[in-house]
Amino acid sequence: MPAERGRKLGPAAKPPAPVEKANVKVPPPSAAGAPEKAKAALTVKLRPAVEKTGATAERVKSTPKLPPGEKRMKKSRIIITCAKGIPPFLREEVLSLGFPVASQAVASLETEGTLEDAMRLNLFIRTGQRVLFLLEEFRAQNPDELYSQLSGIAWEDYIYEDGYLCVTSSVDNPTIKDSRFANVKSKDAIVDRIKKKRGRRPDSGPERTGAVIDLYWKEDWCQVYLDTSGEPLYRRGYRKIPLKAPMQETLAAAVILATSWDGHGNFVNPMCGSGTLAIEAALIAQNIPPGLIRSNFGFMHLKSFDESSWKNLIKMARTRIRGSSPHKIIATDISPEAVRAAQQNAAAAGVERTIEFAVCDYSETPLPAGQGMVVLNPEYGERLGRLKELEGTYRGIGDFFKKKCPGYRGYIFTGNLELAKKVGLKAKRRIPFFNSNIECRLLEYDLYEGSRKAAAPPPEQ
Ligand SMILES: C[S@@+](CC[C@H](N)C(=O)[O-])C[C@H]1O[C@@H](n2cnc3c(N)ncnc32)[C@H](O)[C@@H]1O
Repeated sequence: MPAERGRKLGPAAKPPAPVEKANVKVPPPSAAGAPEKAKAALTVKLRPAVEKTGATAERVKSTPKLPPGEKRMKKSRIIITCAKGIPPFLREEVLSLGFPVASQAVASLETEGTLEDAMRLNLFIRTGQRVLFLLEEFRAQNPDELYSQLSGIAWEDYIYEDGYLCVTSSVDNPTIKDSRFANVKSKDAIVDRIKKKRGRRPDSGPERTGAVIDLYWKEDWCQVYLDTSGEPLYRRGYRKIPLKAPMQETLAAAVILATSWDGHGNFVNPMCGSGTLAIEAALIAQNIPPGLIRSNFGFMHLKSFDESSWKNLIKMARTRIRGSSPHKIIATDISPEAVRAAQQNAAAAGVERTIEFAVCDYSETPLPAGQGMVVLNPEYGERLGRLKELEGTYRGIGDFFKKKCPGYRGYIFTGNLELAKKVGLKAKRRIPFFNSNIECRLLEYDLYEGSRKAAAPPPEQ
């Protein structure tokens, strides 16, 4: 799903204009040492309108010169993007890390902090996708003004002249007929400024493996962000074998947070596929921050990056990892290939010993005595499987819940509410999520001895 900020409009702001999307490729940079594949494909996505504040609408002449240490400690607005449906869970995470939440939108929230704080958010956040640190905002009516405003930012203080740069943007400006132009202009302004100040321009291209600058241009209002994540945070780095229809890591984490499972009680995941839910559950149970698995973030490529402070953060996070627990995490699938993939992915995440794997039909999944959650993500006919066959599967899940799972809380994550009706149990809660652009529900069932059969199919939400 494209990152969408969904910012709240100020009172005078206009409704968002139609979405314009383009993927742009410009020729590879000519500088020696440029990677062969480094073509600057600059993605243009529209985000909903931003709030304009008169106070900050000054032209950027030049950003104040600050040494790297001070730049690190300067506070700014931070936008954390996420998939639709996730902001309530992201909000809880941000608050529990001690950050304020200034506003929450359809696919993002706003907090504030320093670049050091952004580093911490990247390490700990489980459900967010990108941590964007606001560098500058200004008015720009047209591409020339955009270039001139961007040229006023001291990019040479943030980006290495021999580094690698990627520009991403979201544009909705009436003077821009071809949004590729705005992208190229932005990238040119940045590298030209660095060349002028340092005598050399950084390479640029579509890979988010180096410094990433994100531009949001709505009408005549521009916001320029340092994308401190670089690669989106759902790329945890453990998915070595994706299989078909895997759940995004950030979505799986949000699903587990929605069940309020925190490592107490068992977590049983039949139909585990590539193991995302079980792996995210193990990370939560052991208090392993997802950022510990990754070795590359956007902030690492900024001049302000203080490696020793990052290492301290990592060290502190490692001391808080929990060891073994009396509760079990069980992942099963009918496909041996899926279980093999899940095991390998779990090994890459460092949690293979925390999860018990088995190849079996979901209905044969062993449920440990005691309580916990049993969470299934069956196919729902959008990408895999045939609907008629799936009706039988959903009916079977209802029987499995009733016969084998008393004492547990049951969850089904599905994008097909018609199929969900075949479960034949009344869902206590229906939590909306999005898997890519498919609207989904996490259905929650209380399962006690002789669970009540729904008198009628549960109503649509
Ligand atoms: C939508 S995928 C699950 C994706 C998973 N959440 C992930 O992140 O990779 C559904 C899985 O159900 C498994 N499956 C289908 N029928 C099954 C059955 N009768 N018993 C157990 N697993 C089954 C498939 O092999 C597939 O791996």
